[in-house]
Amino acid sequence: MELVEIKEGKSRFLVPAQDENLNFPPGSAPVFFNKRMEINRDLTILLLKCLDAENYLDAMGASGSRGIRVSKECNIHAIINDKSAEAISLIEYNRETYAPEAEVTQCDANVIMSERRFDVVDIDPFGTPAPFIDAAAGCAKKYLFITATDTAPLCGAHLKAGMRRYFARPLNNEYHSETGLRILLGFAVREIVKYDRGVEPLFCFAKEHFVRLHLKLTYGAGRADKAMENIGYIHQCPKCPYRTEQKGLLPKTLYCEECGAPLTAVGPLWTGPVSRTDIIEQMQEMLPDSELGTQNKIEKLLATCKDELETSSFYDYHVLSRHWKVSPVAIETVIERLKEKGFRASRVHYAGTGIKTDAPLSEIRESLS
Ligand SMILES: C[S@@+](CC[C@H](N)C(=O)[O-])C[C@H]1O[C@@H](n2cnc3c(N)ncnc32)[C@H](O)[C@@H]1O
Ligand SMILES: [Zn+2]
Repeated sequence: MELVEIKEGKSRFLVPAQDENLNFPPGSAPVFFNKRMEINRDLTILLLKCLDAENYLDAMGASGSRGIRVSKECNIHAIINDKSAEAISLIEYNRETYAPEAEVTQCDANVIMSERRFDVVDIDPFGTPAPFIDAAAGCAKKYLFITATDTAPLCGAHLKAGMRRYFARPLNNEYHSETGLRILLGFAVREIVKYDRGVEPLFCFAKEHFVRLHLKLTYGAGRADKAMENIGYIHQCPKCPYRTEQKGLLPKTLYCEECGAPLTAVGPLWTGPVSRTDIIEQMQEMLPDSELGTQNKIEKLLATCKDELETSSFYDYHVLSRHWKVSPVAIETVIERLKEKGFRASRVHYAGTGIKTDAPLSEIRESLS
């Protein structure tokens, strides 16, 4: 395996040489490393700087990139695990050379998560994290971070796989990226509340081919019940842009207020806030001094996430324009017009053409062209 040293943030480590011309997923190297996940790792570092944690489990280390960085850049004791022998050799080398304070273990993630406990647990598997969240729910004392790269099942493109993994029904439409995030979050909450633990999303986002959750876990049946209150459904009209939301474990039967069609229930999923404004603000404050390679992208992402309204779905302004057969004004103008009318309106981090608003469809239509 040809190795190269790379620098991310304030850290250095060896990774398998990358073929720049290869399409995603990256190569068939015996140990996995994806340069395009730098922003995901940068955000882990930035968020951890805002949290109170003494130790961190990188449950699926691969090259050890994440754990090495947490050890160097956050001054948190990192335990880097992987089940693959080849990954462990590389992690060991990286630890000795770049982060001697870190600890390395070779174990199935579900085994180490069942035997030991850590302040922060980070699961970053190939594809779905579903098989690991149950053990992680007991293992994480304070925080649980989850990456999912199986966006096709989550977003409804692979419907049956999504239903098997997350026991929820997605809908593959213009806001599927948000539905995917909320289905994963809803699933994580269901895995966690059964242990009488509460869940609070600190900062969750979807980007290109992955979803990333950062959750705070608390204790007590009361807090678990509070988290459960955010489980619910989006009801989407199959004929027009109308949709509504509902909280509760069971879906209601609802009809479109615009055209009368029976609505399609999407979920169960998380219908509460996906991020905390105060956490985003702390991350914004920390960002300039954090020496992160993706600083500019993070700056934009945080600003958009901070403004994003708390509805569980967004409108795509191109889809609306096609539906009403109008040529739209600039998206910023639509948002300004809605705000001038006294409605709340924002862009979304999920898509450049997305709008969230509490305005009824008739008002959106008026503001569109
Ligand atoms: C996507 S990679 C991790 C990438 C890494 N966190 C990073 O940011 O560079 C997934 C890793 O999980 C490991 N893995 C897969 N299943 C596992 C399991 N059940 N227990 C522990 N590690 C596992 C694989 O060997 C692989 O190295
Ligand atoms: Zn309708």
